[in-house]
Amino acid sequence: MVIVYFSGTGNSKYIAEKFADRMQIEAHSIEENIDFGQIFDKVDTIAVCYPIYGSCVPLIMREFVKKNMQFFERKKLIIFCTQMLFSGDGAKAFARLIPNCDGRVRYAEHFKMPNNICNFALFPMTEKEKTKKPLRALEKLDKVCSDIQKGVVKKRGWNAFSNILGKTQNIAYPKMEAKARASFRTDDSCIGCGLCVKKCPMHNLELVNGKVKQNGNCTLCYRCVNICPKQSCTVYFTKKPKKQYKGIS
Ligand SMILES: Cc1cc2nc3c(=O)[nH]c(=O)nc-3n(C[C@H](O)[C@H](O)[C@H](O)COP(=O)(O)O)c2cc1C
Repeated sequence: MVIVYFSGTGNSKYIAEKFADRMQIEAHSIEENIDFGQIFDKVDTIAVCYPIYGSCVPLIMREFVKKNMQFFERKKLIIFCTQMLFSGDGAKAFARLIPNCDGRVRYAEHFKMPNNICNFALFPMTEKEKTKKPLRALEKLDKVCSDIQKGVVKKRGWNAFSNILGKTQNIAYPKMEAKARASFRTDDSCIGCGLCVKKCPMHNLELVNGKVKQNGNCTLCYRCVNICPKQSCTVYFTKKPKKQYKGIS
């Protein structure tokens, strides 16, 4: 088994790496420049972990699945998604990307993790959630690992209620995602340090004459918004962040 993950701001990386430690398997970010085909060829199960966006799988992860479909189409699957509150069927959303994979899904689970949308008042980031959620997620992960080792099959998000809950968000998200693709902005405080350009997982940004330009390929991961040393970057929501999400310490 191997676990591959996308993580905009560290939560999904945290879960994927802890899972890999417990199961004694390799964990790879999909951003790594490696031959995933060679890795997938050697395993019978591919585990995945990603953050949920509006009850949908992030664009970057969807593109990765598409590129490696020949492996996802025949391997057993374990699906983990991280979320701040709820996604309904966030794990099932991944299964929907792969034709007829239901019978090959060994396990699917959602993990509540801290919010990484740092500039939207409806979703405040509290110190309490930053410490408590990862601890609870690890307790859940212990149970998940024990289940998987025993061969227990559990699929979070597969029932009708989860599907309805997912629909409350995933109907609107594609429109938001389309709008977000070219929504990267910086304000006057940008010093042109290029950190956002270097760290963008979509290679969506470039420095032109000291100014950051975007190429319309944002996956809305919020990494740039949370790492900018001047808090100048925004995507989709244009409010300047007061406090950034720095991941799990
Ligand atoms: C664009 C966007 C949409 C999100 N949508 C949801 C959502 O629908 N439900 C939810 O509970 N959390 C949502 N979140 C929160 C993230 O899924 C959550 O913080 C996740 O753990 C971040 O993972 P990462 O640090 O690996 O990027 C959203 C975050 C972003 C940036």
